[in-house]
Amino acid sequence: MTAQEIYIFRIQRNERHESGRVKSRWQEYRVEAEPTTTVLTALNDIRDHQDGTLTFRQSCRSAICGSCAMRISGRTRLACKTHVSAVAKPQQDPSKPKLVEVSPQLNQPVLKDLVVDINPFFKRVHQIVPYLQGGDEAQQKTDKGSYDQVNHVTQCIMCGSCYSDCTMAEVNDRYLGPASLAKAFRFVSDPREGKKSARLEDLTEPDGMWSC
Ligand code: FES
Repeated sequence: MTAQEIYIFRIQRNERHESGRVKSRWQEYRVEAEPTTTVLTALNDIRDHQDGTLTFRQSCRSAICGSCAMRISGRTRLACKTHVSAVAKPQQDPSKPKLVEVSPQLNQPVLKDLVVDINPFFKRVHQIVPYLQGGDEAQQKTDKGSYDQVNHVTQCIMCGSCYSDCTMAEVNDRYLGPASLAKAFRFVSDPREGKKSARLEDLTEPDGMWSC
């Protein structure tokens, strides 16, 4: 049987009032976890056995859908892919259990507890016209090199983690952001795209790629 360890989960609880103001507080829970327990499993455990009001998003539990992105121990990660044992930090008093701090993504409006409004994020993605367009610059043939470039970027699951940890998004809420720019790169580098030059011109507008 695998050894279990006790951890303290310090979770930011958020409540949004009708005025739009968000009231935040920190709440701690004791959790028993094995070395391979994920943060998402621990959150489910807390919700199922300690506090049914704890609110967070999840779906695939396999690092595919992107719903469980949240701030965990100082940076944004997928809760279903992150092992508690890998991110828990020792407390000042070494006799106390290790600590895992969890809060919602940054740079996005908080709705409740760990849930953020993802509409502004996807609005930015739609700004770059996220589909292939016909036009004079479209080529009929592709090659392996360009496929590799496109393939690399299409692996993005749009979880919003990059936007959450982006320091430019923190100071400029009109900035397109890393996920949208990666998506834009995906179309600019695709030989089948017909409006590459127009895309590049759009990206040079204020709050576009040069804001990075
Ligand atoms: Fe789908 Fe974590 S639950 S990525």
